[in-house]
Amino acid sequence: MTKRFFATLAAVLLGGAAWPVLADPVVIKFAHVVNDDTPKGRGALQFQKLVQERLGGQVKIEVYPNSTLVGDADELEALKANKVQLLAPSVSKLNGLAKGLQVYDLPYLFDNLEAVKRFQRRDKSRELLGSLVAHGITGLGYWNNGGRQLSATRDIRTPADLKGLAFRVESSDVLAAYFQQLGAQAVKLPFAQVYGALQSGKVQGAENPWSNLLGQKLNTVQPYIVEDNHSFLTYMVITNTNFWNGLPFGIRAELEAILDEVTLSVNRDAEAINAKARERVVAANTSKILVQTPAEREAWRAAVAPLIKRYESEVGSDVLRAAEATNRR
Ligand code: LMR
Repeated sequence: MTKRFFATLAAVLLGGAAWPVLADPVVIKFAHVVNDDTPKGRGALQFQKLVQERLGGQVKIEVYPNSTLVGDADELEALKANKVQLLAPSVSKLNGLAKGLQVYDLPYLFDNLEAVKRFQRRDKSRELLGSLVAHGITGLGYWNNGGRQLSATRDIRTPADLKGLAFRVESSDVLAAYFQQLGAQAVKLPFAQVYGALQSGKVQGAENPWSNLLGQKLNTVQPYIVEDNHSFLTYMVITNTNFWNGLPFGIRAELEAILDEVTLSVNRDAEAINAKARERVVAANTSKILVQTPAEREAWRAAVAPLIKRYESEVGSDVLRAAEATNRR
């Protein structure tokens, strides 16, 4: 054993740059369903850039936006089969695998995005990040988009106005139950089909943060938008556990450090990106925007409050209480 060997080993163990050089770069495919100019789209590109700067030659990140490689219908299977290595789906698309994640979809549970972010730093939410291990999936972090806003082809002022309309929802029973509770129909559709379904009249309404509304030009087919932030679109960055754990330790540690850095900046910038998208929707003048007043918010909250009780045992009372507490501090 030479001195150089021990120096190299020490550098590797200490997380220095001298980990074994791989013959070919590891290719990591990062697929998602939105466009580049959204919190998630930007986060994926920033991750790609930082990995290129810090691990160039050893790891190559390929980013596939807009459902170009895989979409809502097939991405989890592709991840399990290691055909794609990183995804960042809405937690609403994962809560069939881990019921606790339904907490994020409960309407009017979180008062604002700050409360959601506080929850994500608490133990209960950190535990949920590990709730997919039984499926061979590792959660690496939460990225936020923003508040979901209701939109429709007709004016919506009170909960009763939803009756008879069909709304597109993500593949979450809680999101569907929200519309059903209000006498509307909920239609689960992949994100890539939302614009077409609204344009053809298959559904009359949807729920999206401003960045997705604008990114998919949904405002052009939705003349009415209610700014109600009734729930918040949160993503979980996920990977295939076997793939991730099989990476050389130093590389994995550096990728996780980069990802933590990107997570901070995605969550710092998400609100501003959505505010900008809102301005552009206003400027496009396609839709009448109704801003919910505090009194109206209370009426909507009361109309869907039974859902919190209904889902309490699936979500877990401890998780629910921890989420509610984040509205207070
Ligand atoms: C949706 O399906 O509406 C969202 O989850 C899309 C996304 O990834 O932002």
